[in-house]
Amino acid sequence: MALYSEKVMDHFRNPRNVGVIEDADAVGEVGNAKCGDIMKMYFKIEGDTLADVKFETFGCGSAIASSSMATELIKGKPLSEVAQLTNKAVAEALDGLPDYKMHCSVLAEEAIQSALEDYYTKHPEKKPQE
Ligand code: FES
Repeated sequence: MALYSEKVMDHFRNPRNVGVIEDADAVGEVGNAKCGDIMKMYFKIEGDTLADVKFETFGCGSAIASSSMATELIKGKPLSEVAQLTNKAVAEALDGLPDYKMHCSVLAEEAIQSALEDYYTKHPEKKPQE
């Protein structure tokens, strides 16, 4: 069996939503200390919806594929749904990742959470009550 699914290879070779949003409403940046990979996410938010999202990933192929898939899963979604995206859902949408590459999808989940945190720090009034 191939190590990586076709979806992983596709998102690695043709990543969606790569780039920077200059006037982003929120930015999240995370890194993995062990492998040194870094992921940055830019959010454009309209009302309660994630109107646009872009990413820059300096990292391995699985991290690039994970960020690409993650942006596809959250783009256009309400922030309440964006907040619930898990690394497992990203890995499943990619038809799986090898066990030792699961941490790459965790980076995508953390980048999203970091961008949300940035947004709610700037706009505490928007933060959902727990
Ligand atoms: Fe570290 Fe993939 S090897 S994010």
